[in-house]
Amino acid sequence: MDNFTFYSPTYFSFGKDTETEVGAYVKKFGGTKVLLHYGGGSVVRSGLLDRVKESLLKEKIAFVALGGVKPNPRDDLVYEGIKICKSEGIDFILAVGGGSTIDSSKAIAAGTLYEGDFWDFYQGKPIEKALPVGTVLTIAAAGSEGSPSSVITKLSDNLKRGTSSDLIRPKFSLLNPALTMTLPPYQSASGIADIMAHLLERYLTKTKNVEVTDRLIEALLITMLMEGPKVIENPKDYEARANIMWAGMMAHNNSVGVGRTQDWASHAIEHELSAQYDVAHGAGLAVIFPEVLNYTMDQDLLRFARLGANVFGVPYDYETPKNTALEGVKRLRNFFNSLGLPSTLSELGVKEQDLDEMAHRACYGNGRLGFLGGFSNLGEEDVKNIYKNLL
Ligand code: NZQ
Ligand code: ZN
Repeated sequence: MDNFTFYSPTYFSFGKDTETEVGAYVKKFGGTKVLLHYGGGSVVRSGLLDRVKESLLKEKIAFVALGGVKPNPRDDLVYEGIKICKSEGIDFILAVGGGSTIDSSKAIAAGTLYEGDFWDFYQGKPIEKALPVGTVLTIAAAGSEGSPSSVITKLSDNLKRGTSSDLIRPKFSLLNPALTMTLPPYQSASGIADIMAHLLERYLTKTKNVEVTDRLIEALLITMLMEGPKVIENPKDYEARANIMWAGMMAHNNSVGVGRTQDWASHAIEHELSAQYDVAHGAGLAVIFPEVLNYTMDQDLLRFARLGANVFGVPYDYETPKNTALEGVKRLRNFFNSLGLPSTLSELGVKEQDLDEMAHRACYGNGRLGFLGGFSNLGEEDVKNIYKNLL
């Protein structure tokens, strides 16, 4: 196991009706005037936004509302949010929504206390200060409710890039699984794929002797295999929603990723899809990830065979472990399909003529030097091959 530090100071309140405590939590973490940030309207339709406003009013906390965050959040609304925060003297950002709203909130939080262009942070400049962020989560997926990361798309050239800093980890996150019951099945399924991808990115490691985190990851993956289909079948299954929601947080606050190298090639390859074609991040990963696994498995066949056996229940082929590894990946792809997710780029509307440029953009920029993945080490030609195999 490698040396590591781990600092994850988010305060979680989990369970039914927790969103009604939001005013008290903002107060507890020092907020007096809030930017209330949300997405395209699901929180208005569900009545959640009204409940949040009521809770803020009860604690006499002033707020300015800014809705309109789109999935794969864009820089234009971030600039608008920063302007509002500066002119209104906002001292706390409250995200009510999913990963996109939370990521936009984190960008606004860092950008408000910075004289330059917030995009600098998405090109490698470290964040030095940020307003505090709190979240009321409505979808189990990105894990941004407990993560130090934010991913934003720059509209002028469709560049989707991330930044990471403990300064933008949410101060608190309120997780009520019942709020996720209104998700359309495709979004629930995309969230499940994203959570599994966060686990697999960490499973792909070169570090030896990491049994604790290996086994935690396997347990969380098995949980997703068991609970995922339940919410597609019955969106109102509270217990399954609850298990998925907490798994989503655990998958990405890095408690299962400490002390080991991680991969993240699949995320970089997917981000080009959601940047160019605006596909749901998790749906893109459902297409990409199994192919990356197949493409890289020869680098450590026994790890992949272990994944096949321990997580996907494939009988272990001691003579040819690759058979176990391949069957595991096949079962992963079948699982994603069974949730209603795609398995080819064509299903996502991706065009062959764009693939070369996408492979180039995936491999360069934002500190990338041409190779992706701490485990898979994929160059531009590899990424092209992966895209082409998936048409
Ligand atoms: O915008 P509204 O109307 O709210 O609708 C959203 C959106 O259309 C809808 N939705 C969310 N909760 C709902 C709901 N609809 C009905 N009922 C509810 N309870 O779902 C759609 C997707 O929402 P979004 O916030 O985009 O989903 P997700 O949480 O998957 O976030 C995706 C973004 O997170 C980034 C992705 O790249 C993508 O941009 N990621 C962020 C990470 C991080 N910060 O740590 C890590 C991830 O790997 C990921 O890259
Ligand atoms: Zn992800």
